Order: sequence, then structure tokens, then C-alpha cells
Amino acid sequence: MKVFLTRRIPPEGMKILSAAGVCEVSLWDSDEPVQRADLLKGVQGAHGLLCLLSDKIDAEVLDAAGPNLKVISTLSVGYDHLALDEIKKRGIRVGYTPDVLTDATAELTVALLLATARRLPEGVEEVKNGGWSSWKPLWLCGYGLSGSTVGVIGLGRIGMAIARRLMPFGVKRLLYSGRTAKAHAAEVNGEFVPLDTLVSESDFIVVSCSLTPETQGMCDKAFFSKMKNTAVFVNSSRGTVVNQEDLYEALSSGQIAAAGLDVTTPEPLPTNHPLLTLKNCVVLPHIGSATYSTRGIMGALSAQNLLGGLQGTDMPSELTF
Ligand code: GLV
Ligand code: GLV
Repeated sequence: MKVFLTRRIPPEGMKILSAAGVCEVSLWDSDEPVQRADLLKGVQGAHGLLCLLSDKIDAEVLDAAGPNLKVISTLSVGYDHLALDEIKKRGIRVGYTPDVLTDATAELTVALLLATARRLPEGVEEVKNGGWSSWKPLWLCGYGLSGSTVGVIGLGRIGMAIARRLMPFGVKRLLYSGRTAKAHAAEVNGEFVPLDTLVSESDFIVVSCSLTPETQGMCDKAFFSKMKNTAVFVNSSRGTVVNQEDLYEALSSGQIAAAGLDVTTPEPLPTNHPLLTLKNCVVLPHIGSATYSTRGIMGALSAQNLLGGLQGTDMPSELTF
């Protein structure tokens, strides 16, 4: 059976694929993303496709692959880049990598929240550029978590792991919103509230929901205008949950205090993007799951998912849709 990998995956995954001896691997062997034309060519006749979150897998790709394609394995927990309705129509199975990246992503989100609220990148810059002239009572002041209200939008696996890590900082109230109340929220004393309430009462807003038609563009002008002027906004889900022009406006006008983003639209964000001119905006290059061990485990899991799909057996993490 033939499989196409849109990128060399971590060695843990490559080893599993070659040891299994059931497939002939061809891959886009570059550090740069596969171009559309090369993707369409690479998938031809493939029985399995292993892709990244930056590869858009739509009807055109599925048609280019042809009728052999049995399984798509994505090296990510998010699957908004996969046209699930088209995939379902063709009876193709999908594997993804939930759970194994929860801790790493929650940790990064907490780091981003603290870096943004306590202005770490600005401080580092001031030390280097000579701006550190003396200890000044009100210089580089930011916002702390102690006694604060934190709002988590999407208290799923990752949202919950973020909440668990934030509570020991002395958070007073933990609000969350989403489609339904969650039983597991009790562990962090989470209060299920309407989105508007969360937005207007939180000192820190953390977006950790998945990207759906419902959440696309959710953080817009109306959203930011309800936030406190002292509130910090953090997004580690998907960039298009945010309307970036509205965020720029909210940050530059002082409507909100600061924003930390691990995800943007587009990715990579062009270096001349207006958001990058703002001191109160901290942007990271989508590194939520980027620890050596997590990426190794994701590589192994995505390889096992691919093999399960090829052989018609269980996949360790199959998406049901
Ligand atoms: C990262 O954003 C992922 O979906 O794994
Ligand atoms: C800070 O270092 C202080 O002594 O207050």
C-alpha cells in the first residue's frame, strides 16, 4: 500500500512506519510546506495520507488521491483543515492526536498568558536596548492572577488543563462558556455562564475552543468592546476565531490591556503585520504542542493511526464524525 506524508514526521513515527513493513512511504522531504500542486501529485493513488494542520484537505485533494484512499491521519488535535463531509462521503477514516498534547498546550498557554500579562517580551527588550535605567516604581507594570476572574471559552480537554494550572495562582473565580455545562468543571469550581457574562466579567480571557462555523470570527468588535480595559486576551486555539482588525483596534485604542496569540491568520503572520507593531500584543508561532517529547508521541500516534486505517484495524485515536 502507498502512503503519502506531507512532511517528514518525528523519528518515533517514521520508525513505526518502516518497522510495520506494510506500506511504501513517499514524502514531501522538506522543511517547507508542500505546495498545492505537489500535494495533488503526491496523493495520487495513495491508500493513506499523513498530513499537518497547515494542509487543506478538501474535495480536490480527495479526488486527486482517487478511490484507494482509506485513511487520513493528521499530526494535530485540530481538524478544521479537513473537509469532513467530503471525507465521510468517500468512507475514509480519520486519525488525529488528542490527549497526548493537552499538557504541553496548556503549559504553553499559561506561559503566554503570564508573558503577556507581566510584559516579559517588553522587559527582555528593555534590558537589551538600554531602556533599563533604574528600578522605577511604575515601570513595566502589568496584571497578576491573584484574586482575578479567569474566563475560559471552551472548557474541553485543553481548556480544563489550562484551568487546572491557573487555579493555584490564586484565581478567585473561574468562568467558562461553551455549548453545554461540563461535569468536570466542578474540579476547578468553574461557573458556566453566557459568553457575554464571561467577556464582561473576566480579567483574563483564554480561548481554547475548536474552530467551527459558530466560533469563527467570534472575538470581534462587539466582543472586545465588552471586555474590561484592564483585561488580557489569550488565544491558543485557531487564528480565525479572532477578527484581527478588531483586535488591533481594541489593543491600540486601549479598549483592552493586552493580547497573547499562539495562533494567527494567516500563519505565518507577515512580519509587517500591524499587530506586530504593538507592544501589548505578544505573538508566538503556533508552538502549543512543541515539546520534544510531545511531538515524538504525536509522531508515533499519527503513524499508528495511519497503520490502523490501512489495515482496517483499530486506530488508537480515530475521529468519530
Ligand atoms: C495544534 O494546533 C493542533 O491542532 O494540534
Ligand atoms: C523587590 O525586589 C523588592 O524588594 O520589593
